[in-house]
Amino acid sequence: MAVGAYSVLVFMTQRLLWPLTRLGETFDLYQRAMASSTRVLDVLASPIELKQGTFQPSDDEEKTSSVSLEHLDFAYPDRAPLFQDLSLTFEHGKTTGVVGSTGAGKTSLIRLLLRFAEPQSGHVSWCGQPLDEWDLHALRSSIALVDQHITLFPTSIMENIRYGRPTASDEDVIQAAEIAEASAFVADLPKGWETMVGEGGHRLSGGQRQRVAIARAVLKDAPLLVLDEATSAVDNETEAALQRSIERISRDRTTIVIAHRLSTVRHADRILVLEEGKVVEDGRHEDLLKLNGVYARLWSVQTGEVQ
Ligand SMILES: Nc1ncnc2c1ncn2[C@@H]1O[C@H](COP(=O)(O)OP(=O)(O)OP(=O)(O)O)[C@@H](O)[C@H]1O
Ligand SMILES: [Mg+2]
Repeated sequence: MAVGAYSVLVFMTQRLLWPLTRLGETFDLYQRAMASSTRVLDVLASPIELKQGTFQPSDDEEKTSSVSLEHLDFAYPDRAPLFQDLSLTFEHGKTTGVVGSTGAGKTSLIRLLLRFAEPQSGHVSWCGQPLDEWDLHALRSSIALVDQHITLFPTSIMENIRYGRPTASDEDVIQAAEIAEASAFVADLPKGWETMVGEGGHRLSGGQRQRVAIARAVLKDAPLLVLDEATSAVDNETEAALQRSIERISRDRTTIVIAHRLSTVRHADRILVLEEGKVVEDGRHEDLLKLNGVYARLWSVQTGEVQ
C-alpha cells in the first residue's frame, strides 16, 4: 500500500473512533441525567399531604408561651410505636436539655415539632394552638434548628451565613459569626469572608459547619431554638465553643438542646432523660445525680468518675 493511502487510512480510522468514544461518554451522561431528573420529578409530583391552618401568633405570644406535647402517640410507618401517651412541656424562656441513648427518640421529638412527622394521636401545641392549626411557614420560621446536616451552598461563607436571614447586612452577619465563634476560623480561610464553600469550594470540618449553623440561627433570631447534636464525636474545643454559644443565645429564649455529651447540658434549667420514647428522669443536673439512676451512671462513665 502506498504511504499516502496508508496515512489516509490511519487518519480516517482515528476520525471514526473518536466520535464512538464520545458517544459512550454522552450516553453515560444521558443516563445519569435521566436518573436525576426522575428523582426531581418524583419530588415535584408528590402531593403535599400536610394539612395546615392559618394561625400566626405575634412575636410576643411566641416568646411567652411554652411548647407542650399532649398525649402523643407516634410510630414511623411499619415500625413499633416510638412514643405512647407522651406528655411534656418545654418551658418558655428556659433551656431544656434532652439526653438519652441513640435511638431513644430525641430527633423524632424535633421532627414532630417542625411537622416533619405527624403524630397518630395527641398533639403538640404552642401559643395555645395545636400545630396543625398553624400556618406552616409561620411555624417553621419561628424555629431555628441547628443540626449537623447543614446545607452549604456553593457561594461565599458570608452568603452562606446570611442564609439565616437574607436581608441581614454584612455587619449583622459578622456579628452573628462572632457570637457563634465562627469568625476565628473564617479569618483563617484563604480568602476570608469571600472564600467559596459548599460543593467544589473549601471544605469545612464538622465543628466549623456546626458554627456556621449556629451563626445562621443567631441571625434568624427565632423565638424557639433547637440544637440537635447528632454525635458525641466533637473535639473539646468545639464542645466548649458550643457551650459558650448556647449560653449566649439561649438567654430569654425557649431553647431545646439535644446532646450526647452531658457536659453540654449540665447547666440547663431542666434535663430530660429519654429511653425508648419515654421520659425516665427529669430535673436539674444536681437532682439527677442524686437520683443515682440512668443520668448519674452516664455522667460517671463520661467523666471517668467511678462511684
Ligand atoms: N425516618 C424514619 N423512619 C423510620 N424510622 C425512623 C426514622 N427516623 C428514626 N427512626 C427510628 O426511630 C427511633 C428513634 O430515632 P431518633 O432519630 O429519634 O433517635 P435519637 O434519639 O435522635 O438517636 P441519636 O442519638 O442516634 O440521634 C429509632 O429506632 C430509629 O430507627
Ligand atoms: Mg438524633
